[in-house]
Amino acid sequence: MAEPAAELRIFIAVAIEPEVRYGLATHLGANLPADGLPGSSPPPENWHITLRFIGRTGQTSYERLLAELDQSEFPGEFVVTFGGLGAFPNPKRATVLWLGVEEGAGELAQLAGVVEDATVRAGFVAEERPFHPHLTLSRVRPPQDVRQLIADMPVFPLSQTVTHVTLFESHLRRGPAVYAPLERFALA
Ligand code: 2AM
Repeated sequence: MAEPAAELRIFIAVAIEPEVRYGLATHLGANLPADGLPGSSPPPENWHITLRFIGRTGQTSYERLLAELDQSEFPGEFVVTFGGLGAFPNPKRATVLWLGVEEGAGELAQLAGVVEDATVRAGFVAEERPFHPHLTLSRVRPPQDVRQLIADMPVFPLSQTVTHVTLFESHLRRGPAVYAPLERFALA
């Protein structure tokens, strides 16, 4: 049967608490050079840790995914502490500048695994890239050398308890994307 025409662009992520976003924005502001982050930075309200990017999906697949996520056995709540800055594919020629995760990286990987299993059971193609928990701070085009910036940034001191995962709809438009939470799934 054909999918209905209506499509959603979605991804599943750990949302960042407002206090952490505020703390991180303050920390970056206090420690960055005057010209700020290189490249183009999503606004703090868009910050998140992606567990699984799905992209465009029709209504039937979306509902299958919701059903699978609903039935998933999520691990218990855990604490994430943030680490230093890092870059993809590497700091010398960075295209993505990110904030890393110190404590809780293993639990995030486990959570991403549960989400991945649900996604595949719902009929989506398996993700082939290895999971690397990160919070994207900036997308850099053309690539830049950010080694000094990374070396100069003190470790971000805040942490948050991960209590649920969020399924976001991403609306692309001119300027930063708008992310709307559609569903939340509580951890055990
Ligand atoms: P990121 O996790 O490195 O920031 C929503 O677009 C989120 O899904 C972004 O945070 C983005 O990267 C992540 N993502 C992963 N793969 C993507 C893709 N192929 N296209 C767009 N976003 C993707």
